[in-house]
Amino acid sequence: MNALAATNRNFKLASRLLGLDSKIEKSLLIPFREIKVECSIPKDDGTLATYVGFRIQHDNSRGPMKGGIRYHPEVEPDEVNALAQLMTWKTAVANLPYGGAKGGIGVDPSELSASELERLTRVFTQKIHDLIGVHTDVPAPDMGTGPQTMAWILDEYSKFHGHSPAVVTGKPIDLGGSLGRDAATGRGVLFATEALLNEYGKSVSGQRFVIQGFGNVGSWAAQLINEKGGKIVAVSDITGAIKNSNGLDIPSLLKYSKENRGIKGFHGGDSIDPKSILVEDCDVLIPAALGGVINRYFHISQI
Ligand SMILES: NC(=O)c1ccc[n+]([C@@H]2O[C@H](COP(=O)([O-])OP(=O)(O)OC[C@H]3O[C@@H](n4cnc5c(N)ncnc54)[C@H](O)[C@@H]3O)[C@@H](O)[C@H]2O)c1
Repeated sequence: MNALAATNRNFKLASRLLGLDSKIEKSLLIPFREIKVECSIPKDDGTLATYVGFRIQHDNSRGPMKGGIRYHPEVEPDEVNALAQLMTWKTAVANLPYGGAKGGIGVDPSELSASELERLTRVFTQKIHDLIGVHTDVPAPDMGTGPQTMAWILDEYSKFHGHSPAVVTGKPIDLGGSLGRDAATGRGVLFATEALLNEYGKSVSGQRFVIQGFGNVGSWAAQLINEKGGKIVAVSDITGAIKNSNGLDIPSLLKYSKENRGIKGFHGGDSIDPKSILVEDCDVLIPAALGGVINRYFHISQI
C-alpha cells in the first residue's frame, strides 16, 4: 500500500467513526489544488539539469494552508498528496487556524552544490509564487531543506510581492524566524515520548532509545532526550548506522555529524547495518527519516 492509499484508508476509517456524510468525505479526499512544475537549472559545469517540483494544497477551510517542502529523490505526487492531507488533519486536530499542504522536488540535495540548490529553489519559487502566500499557503522546511532554503524562497517570493517574511516558516532568526523553531519538531518528539512513557508510569530517564535519521528532527530529539537522561543506544542516517549499548555520546556525535555531513566513521560506537536499525533492542524507537518505514510488510527476515 503506498502512502496515499494508506492515508486515504485511515481517513475513511476516521470518517466512518465520526459518521461523516459521504459527500463531505469525498470532497475532503480530493485535494484543493495540485501543482506540478518543471524546474530546469544550469549546473555549475554549464550543463542543463531538469527536476520536477510539486506543491499540493489539500484544504483551506480552516485557514491558509501550511506544510513543508521536501528535497528527496523519492518525492512523487502520491506521497506529497498523502503528506498534504495529513497536514490538514494535523492542524485541525491541534485546533490551529490553518489548512494543509505539502511540496517537494525530486532531487538528491547531496548531489548539488550550494549554488545549484539556490538556483533550483529560486526557479521552483518562480513557478509557484502566484499560488503561495501569507493568506494562501505557507511553506516550511522538511527533509532535505532548512532555514537556508526558506531564506531563498522568501527572497525570491519578495521580488514579486514585496518583502514578505511571513510567506515561509523555519527561516533564519535574522530574517524574522521564530526562536526555537529549529528545535521545535524534535522537542515535539520529546513531548510525545514523555506523554507515552507517562501512560506506562515511566519517564525518559533511563530508557533506551533508537533513532532512525539524524537530521533536524532526529538530532534535536537525540539532544533533548539525552539532556533528560535518556540513553540513545543506536542511530542511523543516510551515511550509515552506529550502536553503543552503553549509550552514545550525543554531544560528540552532533559535533562529528555536523563536521562530516553524517554519522559514518564516528568512533564512539560500533558500525552496524543501517537496515537493522528498526529492530535494534530498545524501549523507544524513533523513526525520524522517511515515513512509512513501519508497516505490516516489514519483518526481521527481510534483513
Ligand atoms: N523539519 C521539520 O520541522 C519537520 C516537521 C514535521 C515533520 N518532519 C518529518 O521528519 C522527518 C525528518 O525530517 P528532517 O527535517 O529531520 O529532515 P533532514 O533532511 O534534516 O534529516 C533527514 C535525516 O534522515 C536521514 N535519512 C534519509 N534517508 C534515510 C534512510 N533511508 N535511512 C536512514 N536515514 C535516512 C538523513 O541522512 C538525515 O539524517 C521527515 O519525515 C519529515 O517529513 C520534519
